[in-house]
Amino acid sequence: MSSKYWILAALVLNAGASLVTPPADPLVPLEINAPDGSAKAHIMPFGATTTNFWVKDKNGKFRDIIIGYDNKTLYETQGGYFGPVVGRYANRIRNGTFTIPVSANATGPGKKFQIVENENNGTDTLHGGLIGYDKRPWTLVKHTANSVLFSLTDPNGDQGFPGTVFTMVQYTLESKSTWKISMHATATELTPIMLSCHHFWNLEAYEESEDLSGHWAQFPSSKFIATNGNLIPNGLTTDVTGTAMDFRQPRNFAQGIAETNGTQVCGTGCVGYDNAWVYDKHDASKPVFSMWNTNSGIKLDVTTDQVALQIYSCNGVENPPAARKVDQGGPDKIYLDHSCLVIEQESWIDGINNPQFPVDQIFGPLRPYTWESSYQFSVIH
Ligand SMILES: *[C@@H]1O[C@H](CO)[C@@H](O)[C@H](O)[C@H]1NC(C)=O
Ligand SMILES: *[C@@H]1O[C@H](CO)[C@@H](O)[C@H](O)[C@H]1NC(C)=O
Ligand SMILES: *[C@@H]1O[C@H](CO)[C@@H](O)[C@H](O)[C@H]1NC(C)=O
Ligand SMILES: *[C@@H]1O[C@H](CO)[C@@H](O)[C@H](O)[C@H]1NC(C)=O
Ligand SMILES: *[C@@H]1O[C@H](CO)[C@@H](O)[C@H](O)[C@H]1NC(C)=O
Repeated sequence: MSSKYWILAALVLNAGASLVTPPADPLVPLEINAPDGSAKAHIMPFGATTTNFWVKDKNGKFRDIIIGYDNKTLYETQGGYFGPVVGRYANRIRNGTFTIPVSANATGPGKKFQIVENENNGTDTLHGGLIGYDKRPWTLVKHTANSVLFSLTDPNGDQGFPGTVFTMVQYTLESKSTWKISMHATATELTPIMLSCHHFWNLEAYEESEDLSGHWAQFPSSKFIATNGNLIPNGLTTDVTGTAMDFRQPRNFAQGIAETNGTQVCGTGCVGYDNAWVYDKHDASKPVFSMWNTNSGIKLDVTTDQVALQIYSCNGVENPPAARKVDQGGPDKIYLDHSCLVIEQESWIDGINNPQFPVDQIFGPLRPYTWESSYQFSVIH
């Protein structure tokens, strides 16, 4: 389906829906099921957030492999980016500023914009500002047995961004535990757009361990985007060869995290991963990223049209402490540092302050934005 058709369809459905039904309670999750019963998810309008996601382990038993809160109010009050869509511009913006057309460090020429700075004592923007897409109640457009479609209108000037952006996200569960996520956005003016899904994974649902010793990943990236101590890109990339950043062969996460100790690759004083890798190969029709757990046997293969990915190894989830969901061993236990993984398919981070990066992240009336990923689950024995 073309983007234009998507937007038109959503506008029509949206208008119809709002005339006949009251808006859905943003904190009440909607259930979707794969037609063959191989997977189930709960997704709510607040942040278009996935609160629970169940697939079968190697023994055929369902596990909830996405972390979050049982108490849904905490998504509003405590936050933590557990499971939402992030936008209008994911990850960090140096000094909260950029120009259009883009220039190095917003030095111009071009018109300069200042976005709300919500991180590092107000010196940069993270995930679209203080009230990013993760903290907004999306409109429920359509809910079927195996899919849910949300829309969001982000007004001109909100958080300081130019132009109104209209976004739709569709989550669909297909047979053979396949989860398809599609995002489409259009803007009334030229504006940066980079969306992503911010799921925190634990592929064993905390049943066998409290760390990432059972988790492995592999993906073809020979470089990652170099950053300063606040994780702001410095305009360069770093070769992964011979380091804990090299996932071209299968790498264990607990060992990898230990190897990062002292390198501060995830920021000043930090141990673990919080980095953006660029894919070497980019075939949008084949899996490019794989992650698996040797305890539960659950394996995830991701196919995506995105050119980069961010991995965060939950280096700072203990502060403030978050009670685990009951089906992940809670509520008396909390989510521990280095016990989960955020995997975000996205574009080059802070590309709007680094014109030398090979991406164009300015979208507008003549250039709609698209993000498509498919998460395929299977088991290994
Ligand atoms: C859920 O969290 C909110 C916000 O912290 C709190 O006020 C409320 O009491 C909690 N509800 C339950 C059932 O624990
Ligand atoms: C942008 O931030 C850097 C630190 O990341 C700082 O050195 C620089 O002065 C800032 N530039 C502007 C224009 O504020
Ligand atoms: C942009 O900032 C980086 C990091 O501070 C610096 O190395 C680079 O020289 C700056 N570029 C321009 C054009 O100001
Ligand atoms: C924020 O400011 C406090 C107090 O000045 C300082 O201790 C802390 O290091 C700063 N944090 C960052 C990330 O700059
Ligand atoms: C990092 O290394 C230091 C020094 O060996 C050690 O005290 C610390 O526990 C290590 N941190 C992690 C998270 O492994």
